[in-house]
Amino acid sequence: MPESIVIRDVTKTVLTPDGPKSLLKGVNLHLEQGRIYGVIGLGGAGKSTLLKLIAGEIRPTSGTVELFGRSIRDVSDSERADLLTKVAKVGVFPNLTPNQTIIESVTEAAQQVEHRIADGGEPDEKDKPRLEPSEIALHLLRALGLRALKNLYPEQLSGGELQRASVAKALAADPRVLLLDEVTGALDHLESREILRLIRRLVKERNITVVLATHEISAIKEICDNVIVLDKGLVVEEGPSHAVIADPQADRTRAFVQSASSLGKVSDLLAGSDPVVDLRPGQKLISLRYVSEDVSEPLVSLVTRKFGIDVNIMLADIQIVGKYPIGGIVGIFEGPERNIRDAITFLRGKKVRVEIIAEN
Ligand SMILES: Nc1ncnc2c1ncn2[C@@H]1O[C@H](COP(=O)(O)OP(=O)(O)O)[C@@H](O)[C@H]1O
Ligand SMILES: [Mg+2]
Repeated sequence: MPESIVIRDVTKTVLTPDGPKSLLKGVNLHLEQGRIYGVIGLGGAGKSTLLKLIAGEIRPTSGTVELFGRSIRDVSDSERADLLTKVAKVGVFPNLTPNQTIIESVTEAAQQVEHRIADGGEPDEKDKPRLEPSEIALHLLRALGLRALKNLYPEQLSGGELQRASVAKALAADPRVLLLDEVTGALDHLESREILRLIRRLVKERNITVVLATHEISAIKEICDNVIVLDKGLVVEEGPSHAVIADPQADRTRAFVQSASSLGKVSDLLAGSDPVVDLRPGQKLISLRYVSEDVSEPLVSLVTRKFGIDVNIMLADIQIVGKYPIGGIVGIFEGPERNIRDAITFLRGKKVRVEIIAEN
């Protein structure tokens, strides 16, 4: 896969009344064309700063940002403008013009692409059969579920509809890179899930690279192929979403993953010595964490049968991320000591992380 965005040793320092402040402290990233990257971090971690650097809105203090193999600092002004037409951005606030209907805004964005090509865009673009701007706009609005609302003005739309219209406008500009900064931050859970799914479908059809900044692990699980964890201006962990969420390494990543999992409640249960974990002799409270991509067998029912033990599930949180189940369960295991030991050995052999939390 060709690299779409390369960030080399990028730092960004700004001057504040209290002195210099370091927003990014040496970031290196290689992002492939067509993949969806989630940048997750707490408020102030530097996510928006990173997106602004990629969009050419600000310059790095040191280091380079390359788009499609060219450093945006080293090229001429007109080449830079050209490179940046391939990058679209949608932020927390919708980027629509108040006095234009939705279809007018989106059509206008598609018209600008026509002009770009007519003004001597890339040769392969000239030969591509293209739809009329109004057809492109209609197609995008339909795909985003806004067809019936196309003649409305921004102020007449709900928050979720406005964000979908902003995404339509961004895609009408035919970008190779789409930057999304907390686009679902103001939406409820169902709305945000729906818009993320629509975005995923549209960008995959178009082979667009996405960089999505968020503080919500749910957004990462929903659409991101890869995750980049940013903490105080540094990348502390990165990798395929499934692998990182299943088995987080950095403390910051673990905190994000646990905050979204009901399995974290087990420590609350134990701390409050809940009757649920009042173990009788011979019982063990055990957590099973699925960290491998090949956990597909019904392991709990298998071990209860195979080893003649009982497993009473107390908490379970298993989700499918990128086709694979991740998460785990916490249960009370009961049966002959030897059989429970054998069951644990068996599960570990299946690459399940097994931890005895408490026993009696
Ligand atoms: N131009 C600036 N001058 C001073 N401080 C800034 C400037 N831009 C951003 N910051 C600060 O830098 C930190 C990182 O910002 P940002 O990239 O917006 O973080 P995030 O998007 O992860 O919340 C924040 O504490 C913010 O207040
Ligand atoms: Mg931000």
